[in-house]
Amino acid sequence: MTARPASGAVGCEFSTLVPLRDGSAVRIRAIRPDDKRRLLGHFSRLSERSVYQRFFGVKRELTPEDLTHLTELDFVDAVGLVATVGAGDDERILGVGRYFVDPTPAGTPRRAEVAFAVEDAHQGRGIATRLLEQLLPFARQSRVAALEADVLSDNVHMLHLFSRMGFQTASSRHGVVRLSLPSEPQEQRRSA
Ligand SMILES: CC(C)(COP(=O)(O)OP(=O)(O)OC[C@H]1O[C@@H](n2cnc3c(N)ncnc32)[C@H](O)[C@@H]1OP(=O)(O)O)[C@@H](O)C(=O)NCCC(=O)NCCS
Repeated sequence: MTARPASGAVGCEFSTLVPLRDGSAVRIRAIRPDDKRRLLGHFSRLSERSVYQRFFGVKRELTPEDLTHLTELDFVDAVGLVATVGAGDDERILGVGRYFVDPTPAGTPRRAEVAFAVEDAHQGRGIATRLLEQLLPFARQSRVAALEADVLSDNVHMLHLFSRMGFQTASSRHGVVRLSLPSEPQEQRRSA
């Protein structure tokens, strides 16, 4: 279960240009309430397989509730970044990375569920890697102790990426691998 963004979500102004491994650049910025149409476009460009890997099932459309849930974020308990190209009306979302903090009792470490979707034609270019790199400072800033993810065991690209970024396997059963990454580097955590 994931936390819903607070009502009256304020969003965030974050935006940066990052290089990809092929030498091109994408903008990574905070997702905004006015991204609903762009997000629908992004979803429509995902293959059935990618949708299945992202949502763990068949999902034909994003509902108005999904769009609100995914674009109206408080950037404390719910953080979402998009990788885009183009500008203005021509801006297009190539990838989305987000985390939602799990509801936990006060005083226990904050943990968040992280997930990504990159449109099929742009997979393998390093976009999800860049999104994760940009999500980590948000997690540290809002005192999220660990990012966690459930990944289908045949999703080799996602497993490879998480492994390369330092995620450890916490469990694996019924075809789903549970992974976890402390948001602070381990050395800093020990000396803190
Ligand atoms: C998993 C996913 C998010 C990865 O996004 P991405 O932008 O392609 O990821 P990156 O390019 O940063 O890294 C993917 C790794 O797989 C490798 N790869 C090889 N062939 C690939 C291919 N056809 N497509 C994607 N990745 C490929 C990449 O090279 C890279 O490994 P490397 O760093 O050793 O080269 C993307 O494939 C996707 O959206 N899949 C469907 C949704 C999904 O599975 N979400 C995960 C749920 S948490």
